[in-house]
Amino acid sequence: MNDKPFVFGVATADENFTDREKETARLLANFQHGINTILISPRRWGKTSLVQKICRIAQSDKLKIVYLDIFSCRSDREFYDKFAEAVLKQTSSKWDEWMEHVKLFLSRISPKISLGPDPMSDFSISLDLNPKSDDIQDILQLPEKIAQQKKCRIVVCIDEFQQIAEFDDSKTFQKRLRTVWQLQKSVSYCLFGSKKHLMAELFEKKSLPFYKFGDTVYLPKISTADWVKYICERFEATGKKISGTLAKKICQTVDNHSSYVQQLAWLVWGLTEKTATGKEFAEACQDLLNQNSPLFENQIKNLTSSQMNFLRALKDGIHTGFTTQNVLKKYQLGSSANVSIIKQALIKQELIEIENGQTVLADPVMALWLKRIWE
Ligand SMILES: Nc1ncnc2c1ncn2[C@@H]1O[C@H](COP(=O)(O)OP(=O)(O)O)[C@@H](O)[C@H]1O
Ligand SMILES: [Mg+2]
Repeated sequence: MNDKPFVFGVATADENFTDREKETARLLANFQHGINTILISPRRWGKTSLVQKICRIAQSDKLKIVYLDIFSCRSDREFYDKFAEAVLKQTSSKWDEWMEHVKLFLSRISPKISLGPDPMSDFSISLDLNPKSDDIQDILQLPEKIAQQKKCRIVVCIDEFQQIAEFDDSKTFQKRLRTVWQLQKSVSYCLFGSKKHLMAELFEKKSLPFYKFGDTVYLPKISTADWVKYICERFEATGKKISGTLAKKICQTVDNHSSYVQQLAWLVWGLTEKTATGKEFAEACQDLLNQNSPLFENQIKNLTSSQMNFLRALKDGIHTGFTTQNVLKKYQLGSSANVSIIKQALIKQELIEIENGQTVLADPVMALWLKRIWE
């Protein structure tokens, strides 16, 4: 039993995990039937939490899960190291078996292995790769070889996959992965990440190797009904109360953004002695804005004046028609060509998003904050 009423900032599980029933069923089926999955959403909507949940459910002797987060990988070499290490470590818990797998499947590479404080359970691996040779092939084939030897299937989950778009000569790297991975019989992949624009490009651009690699899932937001039920239950489980109406207000304030719903609910909960009222809610909202304002200041400090003007238009509720004479003039956006340059730049910085043809601020709390500083 988890006694924390609300969780944010880290992946969440158990009592602090709600909804996602449809996505759970879909991903689980993909895992069990060896179908590659691509999962995309903006940051902090719940990808990591969801995939980790599926991993816990799907894991068995017949279906092994390998999970790695490549957020810190800056090059293909770092990727290969991390990949090999994760595959070796997570397909067996026995030290002698790791060594055997290294000998059998990575012998050409003669990896350097450094032991952790407990050599029986911890090691890290660094591979002396010759990028042109078959070494890379061996590494990418490692899960397939292990799966065949162990007579099981393996799902490799790679978090923050958008990172690979930043590697030098990323396209060649992507081609390599795809060429090897698509022929594997016993291994499937779940690739997920944020930076929607990068992820979407990796998997939707016909000219790129990962085009049509698997079942693409755009993670939606959690519905208000699910959130309200969750918030009320969490209050009750800890001896406090909140009305459905107020719980709904929490969701609406942060536009159902997963992490912010939990954070705002947590702030309201903390201020509430027995039953939450509008007073605690208002105070919690102020608190949320104050906590985030240094972050937002940082995010906008290097914007150009026309980019700032564009944000101002969004703040005023304009979501389409930026290139009409009226809007161009009122917000001093320059020409219509300039508008599309501004948009691209802001999308790249993840400050705005296009949703059903509407341009919106990516962060609902930043939207509130802009209102506060500009009104
Ligand atoms: N299914 C869920 N139920 C409740 N809260 C969730 C759920 N998924 C995500 N969250 C909230 O969102 C935050 C970010 O989730 P995370 O899985 O790290 O997102 P992502 O990987 O998309 O960045 C969590 O800390 C939690 O507060
Ligand atoms: Mg994540």
